[in-house]
Amino acid sequence: MTREGTYFREELFQRINALKKEMNALVLAHYYTLPEIQQVADIVGDSLALARAAEKNNADVIVFAGVYFMAETAKILNPAKQVLMPDLFAGCPLADSCPADEFRKFKNQHPGAIVITYINSTAEIKALSDITCTSSNVEHIIRQIPEEQQIIFGPDRNLGAYIAKKCNREMVLWQGYCYVHDDFSEEYMLKACAEHPDAELIAHPECQEEVLRHAHFVGSTKALLDYTVSSPVNKFIVATEPGILYEMQKRSPQKSFMMAPKEPDNPRGVCTQMKQNTLEKLYQCMLNRTPEIVIEEKLRLEALVSIRRMLEMSPG
Ligand code: 13P
Ligand code: SF4
Repeated sequence: MTREGTYFREELFQRINALKKEMNALVLAHYYTLPEIQQVADIVGDSLALARAAEKNNADVIVFAGVYFMAETAKILNPAKQVLMPDLFAGCPLADSCPADEFRKFKNQHPGAIVITYINSTAEIKALSDITCTSSNVEHIIRQIPEEQQIIFGPDRNLGAYIAKKCNREMVLWQGYCYVHDDFSEEYMLKACAEHPDAELIAHPECQEEVLRHAHFVGSTKALLDYTVSSPVNKFIVATEPGILYEMQKRSPQKSFMMAPKEPDNPRGVCTQMKQNTLEKLYQCMLNRTPEIVIEEKLRLEALVSIRRMLEMSPG
């Protein structure tokens, strides 16, 4: 049995499950967290599914095993609920690459443009935005914007470029990126495809165009997962964060999945921030009801506008 901090794993599962009942808590986890976190969570999902789950539930406490912007979004939607996070320092470097002061200047350079912002951003950036989006709903949202309307998109340049091309729209892009997705190389990808001609390459749109153009299917974490279930193909090379392989394998035990390769010993292969959510930290955060997400009310109300618009404009 694996030892996790001071408790054994099974004991932690039991204690967490008992606390869930006692606190009337809902544990949400992103697909990129550790398998044991996904096992103990009530809902595992991508950014959109988790935002929706955070919006509609009867829990008194939300415990968010993900990264900071996700828990912050849950708190923006639920001011009356306590929102806890196992590790407050599990941030998102993509979100951090877009400071509010600089983004305000960027926005001011394009007066009249509508600002559509990836959910992987801080509350301050959401407050400066017209509509928030995720990789699941970005296309659906962009297609609702009149063609003559100029669009500013941030902070992910790869997702922005992908969607601008797909929707045939000119978009002004903030030049942020996710190190996990941006780091896949075309050369290694092509080698893997040549070595496994029976496999399909599937990729998240946070990857660079030079990778995306070789993919059989491009989609959000949830779309990739659904594709592996519905596709008749039995082997996949997956270009996204490796945490999703746990759910892919669970849903299709007869199929085989391999991570798209990176250079040997590349330390940027996993989202280390997502992995900061350990069972021990999850248990301690529930037991002690800390760390808790706190957000100033004025900022919350400003950020809520763009999140609400996203939820209204998303497909059903
Ligand atoms: P999705 O969950 O929307 O696919 O986003 C991926 C991601 O990088 C989350 O941080
Ligand atoms: Fe941020 Fe990338 Fe980690 Fe997602 S996978 S939380 S975008 S660093």
